[in-house]
Formats: sequence, structure tokens, C-alpha cells
Amino acid sequence: MASTGTAAAAAPQVALQSGDARPMPMVGMGTVQFPLVHEATKNAVLAAIEVGFRHFDTAFMYGTEKPLGEAAAEALRRGLLQSREELFVTSKLWCSQNHPDLVLPSLRETLKNLEMEYVDLYLIHWPVCVNGPPRFPNKKEDAVPLDFEDVWRAMEECQRLGLAKAIGVSNFTTKHLDRILAVATIPPAVNQVELNPAWQQRTLRAYCADRGIHVAAYSPLGGQNWDGQGNAVLDSVVLAEIAKARGKTVAQVALRWIHEQGVTCIVKSYNKERLKQNLEIFDWELTEEDRFKISQIPQKKVIKATSGLFSEEGEFTSVDPAELNIVEE
Ligand code: A2P
Repeated sequence: MASTGTAAAAAPQVALQSGDARPMPMVGMGTVQFPLVHEATKNAVLAAIEVGFRHFDTAFMYGTEKPLGEAAAEALRRGLLQSREELFVTSKLWCSQNHPDLVLPSLRETLKNLEMEYVDLYLIHWPVCVNGPPRFPNKKEDAVPLDFEDVWRAMEECQRLGLAKAIGVSNFTTKHLDRILAVATIPPAVNQVELNPAWQQRTLRAYCADRGIHVAAYSPLGGQNWDGQGNAVLDSVVLAEIAKARGKTVAQVALRWIHEQGVTCIVKSYNKERLKQNLEIFDWELTEEDRFKISQIPQKKVIKATSGLFSEEGEFTSVDPAELNIVEE
């Protein structure tokens, strides 16, 4: 089968500030899904490659590294891709591996899962460190202070070894980034955070723009009902009105707004039609009035370290909650 050349060019790319970094397509496919179904993930990645996705986001904790790697290998066999270099693959270091001596072995395990020689981007998943085996949620009593300096040095080593073309962080506030920038010889290329019209992250975006840190948005469509309280993006009346006026879907309006902020969208869909739709945001624009209306949408953060990242049992003793990602904007 011929390579989907035209679709592959669908997402514009952004240059990252790390030396060896490859340009990042500004829409990527998120792969997190609970419960995980291996074949469904593999098939969804293949469908995504077919419609033109070239940027894939995974994490050790999602369990989707293996199906993503299998799909990439299959796409190469089928001729949907000519080479691994056509893909941009991101993975993330879990909290239990956020210890200086565990960073490199964890990346090696990720690469084994992916059956790849390198990842394009390796992120510290959370500014949180726990003792014990990898698990989700973490146990609060396992939390210990994160050694920002030595963990970041270990991340830099991953890049120097060529096992990660770029390194960065996820769920970091400006205060966490201050800690990394104070010690970094390679500054983080990316901060991936919850970001959408209902959680716009204005302060963090301005901070990152000043320091050349590219921002990527997870939950660009409001996520998968992570807090059990519906979806402030897909159910937004404001976005629905704009979508109607522009002849687009609510999802496309949300993704277009994020793109116009210079932010990369990591959007999860396992449905081929919706995957295709999520790439069709580059040949039209929002109006000034649309942007104003979106700026007025009430703000609500869904993913909180205190609610989702840690189990509720046990006392939260060893980490100052202010160190976690719960104080924002
Ligand atoms: P599905 O996989 O069935 O398409 P986020 O990326 O913010 O985490 O949001 C993902 C949620 O939005 C998923 O439940 C996904 O479901 C759904 N979704 C993804 N793309 C679209 C779209 N274009 N229109 C409507 N829902 C979408």
C-alpha cells in the first residue's frame, strides 16, 4: 500500500529547543485508555497512521507502549510508513522510577516495549516521586521528595546517549520548572499539561513561552470523564455555538483554539472518523469574536494530583501538597 504522503503532511511541525530534537507534529494521538485493551490500541494506532497521524503519545504507566510499537512495526511492514523516522514518539517516566538511578533503566524498558532504538521525547510524567513498584494510583505513604537536580541530570544523560532525542516534563507548574531550569544544562524542551478551553493555563503558557519551553496539551477535549463530572469542553454551549457558526464540530473548535495558542494537541480517539476529524483543523481560523467568547469560558481543572494520582487511603505525610501540581494559576 502506498504511503499516505498527503495526510502525513497534515499537521504542521514545531521545532523544539533541544539540540538533537526532531520537529514535533502539532497534533499527536493520545493512547491512554482505561481499561487497556491491547488489540484495540494497536488497531487504533494503525487507523491513526492511515489517516495521517505521525505523532504518538504513550507512557510506561498507560501500558500502551507495546501495542504502539507493534502497530508501528506493522505499519512499516504494510508500507504505510517508509521508516521509523517518520514517527514522533513520546513516552514518560512513572513516579516510582523518578529516582536518579532508575531513569535510564526505565527508558531502556520503554524502548524494549516499543521495540525502538530511541524515543523522540521522554518526559518526567509527574513532579512526584514514590518508593515501591510502579502502580496507579500511587500510595500516599510511599511519596518522598523528588530529587529534581539528580533526576534531571539522569534525563540529560538519556538525551546524551541518543536514547531520547529530546527531554521534558509533564504536569509541572512554573515553580517546578524553576527548580529544573536552575540546574539544567539541557533545558526541558516540552511541558505537557492539562490544557483546553476550560483550563487555559495562561500563566504557565506565558512562562514557558519566555523560556522556549514548548507546551503540549493533554485532555484537549476535556478528557475521558476522569472526575466523573462530565466534560466541560465537549458539553460547552459556547463552543457548540461557535462550531455551528463555523460548520465544524465542537472537538475541532477546541483543537483549533489550542493550535492557535501555539500549543500541540495530544488528542485521544480510538475511532477512525474522529481521528480524521481531529486532523482537519489547519485550513480555517476562529474569528476574534470566537476567541473572545472562548476566553470567557469558566475555568476548571480536572486532573489533580490529590484526587487521581494518589489513592485516598493512608496519610499524606512526606510531601508538601504545595510541591504537587495542585496550586495553579
Ligand atoms: P473516542 O475514543 O470514542 O473518540 P481527550 O483527548 O481530551 O482526552 O478526549 C478524549 C475523549 O474525547 C475520548 O473519550 C474520545 O472518545 C473523545 N473524542 C476524541 N475525538 C473526538 C471528536 N472529534 N469528537 C467527539 N469526541 C471525540
